[in-house]
Amino acid sequence: MKILLSKRVLNIPKSSTLQITAKAKELKRMGFDVINFAAGEPDFKTPKEVINEINRAIEEGYIYYAPSKGYKELREEICKKYKELYNVDINPEEVIITPGAKQAIFEAISSIINPGDKVLIPSPCWVSYEPMVKLCDGRVEFVRTIEEEGFKIDIEDLRKKANGAKLLIINYPNNPTGSSYGYDELKEIVDICLENNLYILSDEIYDRITFEKHVTMLSFKDIRDRLIVVNGFSKTYSMTGFRLGYAIANEKIIDEMSKVQEHTVSCATSFIQIAAITALRKCEYFVRMMNYEYKRRMDYISRRLSEIGISFVKPKGTFYIFPKFNYNGFKLANILIEKYHVATIPGEAFGIGGENHLRLSITLPIEKIEEGIQRIEKCLKEMNY
Ligand SMILES: Cc1ncc(COP(=O)(O)O)c(C=O)c1O
Repeated sequence: MKILLSKRVLNIPKSSTLQITAKAKELKRMGFDVINFAAGEPDFKTPKEVINEINRAIEEGYIYYAPSKGYKELREEICKKYKELYNVDINPEEVIITPGAKQAIFEAISSIINPGDKVLIPSPCWVSYEPMVKLCDGRVEFVRTIEEEGFKIDIEDLRKKANGAKLLIINYPNNPTGSSYGYDELKEIVDICLENNLYILSDEIYDRITFEKHVTMLSFKDIRDRLIVVNGFSKTYSMTGFRLGYAIANEKIIDEMSKVQEHTVSCATSFIQIAAITALRKCEYFVRMMNYEYKRRMDYISRRLSEIGISFVKPKGTFYIFPKFNYNGFKLANILIEKYHVATIPGEAFGIGGENHLRLSITLPIEKIEEGIQRIEKCLKEMNY
């Protein structure tokens, strides 16, 4: 029978993590006490200043289409924030506001990739990069990371594969591993990209959830013409449902991305953009409070995992930890949810290098983390692990 649907879309797999999260929801609905280590979003309430500002912005009439690139005032505020945090100079014309960082990533890939172009992605990696490249008819080649060195990119593997590639997608602090990079390590990566004329898409959405100083890729002036940095409000200000992100790149790339935006989603929601200005101006206290709490939780879970003899790389940022087991991640995650009502994400979902791992999100209070760890320990004992 002739297939009438797009082969491009038919080739995209459904999220392999959906099954576990659906199971967790079902168990919760049935009244079970589920410990949820599977979430990909903060557990804090959005700052009240942001909510109040949304109401005010709606009252004031920010209920119509916004300019496709986003309100200039918000773009200017983002530039100010980058100056304040990282001492980098950005012009508002080098910023586009998008409905979520995800859309910014898709627009960047659409604007750079021609059919057949090779895209390098260090793995394990966030689940959406590969499908997005495929939707643009690009070709993904995964670059090894070295777990023993904190899941850092294997520089020799990158050097080998860079020849003939068009784009490197890097994400740090990293989902799912929590790994990150210092200035010298990033410089080595940037130099390889410069030597091979690669573009870099740097997904820095966890830049404010860090236990070490974050170095933005924008610090490297030589690559600025070939660089897109993506960030957003989802993780930093606990605004996942508001769908607001942005990209920073040279004007030519931003103009191309803007065309994709105009013809697909038009613009990011107008009143949310206005509220985001308040987030940037008034909610630094909130970012610090969340970061402090994540650090406390991360120290706690790291200590507890060590005590029960589970190996892991200590995260440098994000709210994820990625312990390793001598057991298939899918199978273990299934046992944990079915028998112990603990939801986790199997490492295999994040591609090569993720095998036999679980991703645990620490987006729950310490008492719940403790309860979850006790159940994991019980599970491993009963499996004679
Ligand atoms: C690495 C990474 N990039 C991008 C995103 C997308 O974020 P947003 O909610 O802004 O679309 C996520 C969300 O989970 C993520 O983990």
